Amino acid sequence: MLRKITLGAVAALALTGTAALANEGFEPTTTDVSFSFEGPFGTFDRHQLQRGLQVYTEVCSACHGMKFVPIRSLADEGGPQLPMDQVRAYAAQFDIFDPTLDDTRARTPNDTFPSSTMPNAPDLSLMAKARAGFHGPYGLGLSQLFNGIGGPEHIYSILTGFTGETKDEAGNTFYENHAFSTGWIAMPPPLSDGQVEFADGSPNDVKHMAEDVAAFLMWAAEPHMMARKQAGFVAVIFLGVLSVLLYLTNKRLWASVKGKKKHA
Ligand code: HEC
Repeated sequence: MLRKITLGAVAALALTGTAALANEGFEPTTTDVSFSFEGPFGTFDRHQLQRGLQVYTEVCSACHGMKFVPIRSLADEGGPQLPMDQVRAYAAQFDIFDPTLDDTRARTPNDTFPSSTMPNAPDLSLMAKARAGFHGPYGLGLSQLFNGIGGPEHIYSILTGFTGETKDEAGNTFYENHAFSTGWIAMPPPLSDGQVEFADGSPNDVKHMAEDVAAFLMWAAEPHMMARKQAGFVAVIFLGVLSVLLYLTNKRLWASVKGKKKHA
């Protein structure tokens, strides 16, 4: 009896769950953006990362966190590369509870970014690697081979994909968004034109801010991308040289045998 009731409850939950999520025939759309870090020789644009950090801090961090990213990495080469005194000042804006002091204290560069303040706003530390913007065709993965996985593009598309429509369901407001998996997202449109003033006077319309913060989140998720690409490049050259040497060695080793055959 009890089992029947539980099974029934599970089935009912599953049904309502899919009913709420299903949006028949909806396919999220991801806009391709040509980021500076794409391709085998792509690198992060330091100034873009700094602008992205500013957008993240002034807008996104009101709800989202990045609890896996140490603040000190803002000074790393290949990242936003802020001077250490600025990194210290940045860290000190945020408090953290320190169990050894049994009190709160200002963060230091060795602490991480604060975590999400809103329970249903996901942590953004790895968001750029956790989502795929491009799929198919037919599960072949060709789109991803040519366009990349599309994590930062997904973030860009979410931020620019709001249509302005809203609906209320079960006491929550959802915002129509063409890039979100179900077409309706619980995040209100976070960006509006001119919201963040950049010190270098860079354009601050929604598209540019979205691009900057998406690039920043890509760096946060994969801070050593440039070092990885460089190591890969060196490895390819090394293997190329090695292949030539092995080919020549092989020729030399078999020269006597093959040579004999020819004359026989
Ligand atoms: C008012 C609070 C709030 C602000 C500000 C906010 N978000 Fe969100 N965000 C949310 C919530 C809530 C969700 C979860 C939405 C859902 O699951 O329907 C979310 C989800 C997301 C997602 C996940 C989408 C997915 O595919 O699952 C991304 C990416 C994101 N936000 C990026 C940002 C960025 C970048 C900013 C700053 C420009 C930002 N958010 C600002 C509340 C916020």
